[in-house]
Amino acid sequence: MIPVHSLGTLPDNWEDPILPAATAQALLMQPGHVLLTVKHPDRFHPPATHALVKVIAGEAADILTLYTPAAVRRCGLAKRLLEDVIVRAREAGCPAITLEVRRGNTAARALYHKLGFTEIATRPAYYTSPVEDAVVYSLPL
Ligand SMILES: CC(C)(COP(=O)(O)OP(=O)(O)OC[C@H]1O[C@@H](n2cnc3c(N)ncnc32)[C@H](O)[C@@H]1OP(=O)(O)O)[C@@H](O)C(=O)NCCC(=O)NCCS
Repeated sequence: MIPVHSLGTLPDNWEDPILPAATAQALLMQPGHVLLTVKHPDRFHPPATHALVKVIAGEAADILTLYTPAAVRRCGLAKRLLEDVIVRAREAGCPAITLEVRRGNTAARALYHKLGFTEIATRPAYYTSPVEDAVVYSLPL
């Protein structure tokens, strides 16, 4: 199984369309926030998939961002990382994992469906640039 690593600080080459580096680093300093990464097993210096998650034991687990660099997409890395998040959240006694995603993000939504997440709400015009609804997903644990 490909190993998933927890990082205490952001990598220098942070690349993420959802969270700028300063925001991600500030969140990482907050209680319960964990930065997880997973690398392609067959490449020497591959860019890594990352997720910033908030896991409050016994209360809630949220995926704040998830990103796979274009060069290593469709290799199963995001799925592997989310499987690790599910195990962590379950072990922490969280009743569910939740997240929000743009309605038009078909790649991410296909991934969440594959892992058993279901849509529980819509937040109209939640995102800007461009304006778009958010779909809220939950995975009961
Ligand atoms: C969404 C994203 C994280 C997926 O990462 P990934 O590492 O390529 O995903 P995986 O290889 O683990 O995909 C697992 C499954 O998800 C689904 N999936 C992933 N990308 C898909 C795509 N472009 N189209 C359709 N289904 C897709 C498939 O079911 C896939 O399994 P398969 O390859 O065996 O068919 C990646 O495309 C990304 O970083 N996008 C930009 C940032 C983003 O949208 N983040 C999520 C915000 S909530």
